[in-house]
Amino acid sequence: MRPVSPDEAGLARAARALQAGGLVAFPTETVYGLGAAVTDGGAVARVYAAKGRPAHNPLIVHVASLEAARRLGAFDGRAELLAEAFWPGPLTLVLPQRRPNRLSALATAGLDTVALRFPGHPVARALLAAAGLPVAAPSANPSGQTSPTTAAHVLADLGDALDPLRDLVVDGGDCPLGVESTVVDLSSPDRARLLRPGGLPRAVLGGLIGPLLGPEAEAPLRSPGLLGRHYAPRLPIRLDACEVGPDEALLAFGPDPLMGARIVLNLSVDGRLDEAARNLYAHLRRLDASDAAAIAVMPIPEEGLGEAIADRLRRAAA
Ligand code: TXA
Ligand code: MG
Repeated sequence: MRPVSPDEAGLARAARALQAGGLVAFPTETVYGLGAAVTDGGAVARVYAAKGRPAHNPLIVHVASLEAARRLGAFDGRAELLAEAFWPGPLTLVLPQRRPNRLSALATAGLDTVALRFPGHPVARALLAAAGLPVAAPSANPSGQTSPTTAAHVLADLGDALDPLRDLVVDGGDCPLGVESTVVDLSSPDRARLLRPGGLPRAVLGGLIGPLLGPEAEAPLRSPGLLGRHYAPRLPIRLDACEVGPDEALLAFGPDPLMGARIVLNLSVDGRLDEAARNLYAHLRRLDASDAAAIAVMPIPEEGLGEAIADRLRRAAA
């Protein structure tokens, strides 16, 4: 399967594919998503099948505007504040569903809530606008494995699971942020809960609506997708490495990488967390393809975007 470019013709084809029940992988500012019309239960079922994703793990519904989101979710004052401030962008809001709606129950895993995101990537925005319907899209990787930040990653991971006659991959280049959206649960009126740290740092959100609970405590129960090993390469991962073994590849961070590793990739020589987030999945994939027996990871400060990076690495190591 060859990816299509995100020009007018390519986006029109991709929009028609979504409307016809096809799957379309597309870039967002965080990672590539594997999209399906959220009203089409058959198409949504094919997303779960392509990823090997358990049906109890709901999908994020992507929309082209705040108005479209308001038709699907019940926005309270906090949700309005966050959406006004950070949409379009790397933020997903879990809200009570507004009914009646045409969301496939499979997409929301039968819950009363819906996870909504208005992405900021120009290709994602253009595709959602052209399709004219909300699009359910998990990250475009096999369930539990490393997320894709290039079209080549998507093709390598899911190429065989897609139907060349119905499905498409839109190549919008590298994802600029590199880690998934921040997921905030506003479905109950008590304190907002961070279900997944991500591309929008916790402190930025807290500045608007006060401190967030989680994700530790109850989060795994509330967000089924957060259980167990996830975001994981094939090789075992060893965190907070202070030295490297002879058979280990090194995922370094900062100006002083540990000495002695045969294979080294540095997330950011300058110690920049935005650069580290952008490189995270591509570097993990390259080290995973090496002949090393394991991947040693240097410590990464857990501030700002570092919380999301550390979260993904911990889950990959679990
Ligand atoms: O950046 C992203 O969010 C990317 C791009 C493609 O938008 N998408 C993504 O989707 O990461 P996925 O399926 O890999 O992760 C969605 C997360 C899962 O942990 C899932 O359990 C949670 O969101 N989620 C979805 N709907 C939910 C709901 N109603 N309540 C609680 N958690 C929900
Ligand atoms: Mg995912």
